[in-house]
Amino acid sequence: MTATPLKVLVLHGPNLNMTGFREPDVYGKKPLEDIDAEIKTAADRLGIEIRILQSNSEGTLIDTIQEHRRWADAIIINPGGLTHYSIALRDALVSVRLPVVEVHLSNVHSREEFRRHSVIAPISLGQVVGFGGFGYVMALEAVLNVEREVV
Ligand code: DQA
Repeated sequence: MTATPLKVLVLHGPNLNMTGFREPDVYGKKPLEDIDAEIKTAADRLGIEIRILQSNSEGTLIDTIQEHRRWADAIIINPGGLTHYSIALRDALVSVRLPVVEVHLSNVHSREEFRRHSVIAPISLGQVVGFGGFGYVMALEAVLNVEREVV
């Protein structure tokens, strides 16, 4: 009997559409479309169903989280700059009662002081930081491990 595939919502917050072009020394030279393609390849390999969205708007991210509350089994999110102050985004994530993994392309802990604080981290299973786009693949593996206890 085959298990129902795990369903994961992957969200990229403000300015992540500029990945590959903005501050490539910090965020890498790979465009977001290439990172998304790698996420999809990893999801196929792991048998995970995914939906991916990037938005520069806090409201759109919140709407998407709410709309997926019954579809998703888990959420992987890089909240971009919203990480550091958006109580509204945090509240939305809490309200849907789904496991959350926070991802950052850069190592936020080795950068400016204000990037070390995340309002999302306390309500997340964990953070993956500093590994560029590969961090999303690590997060998928982590979600699968937690949900299916496969490793
Ligand atoms: C980021 C880190 C944030 O501090 C920053 O505002 C971003 C990108 C990252 O992926 O490293 O937009 O989330």
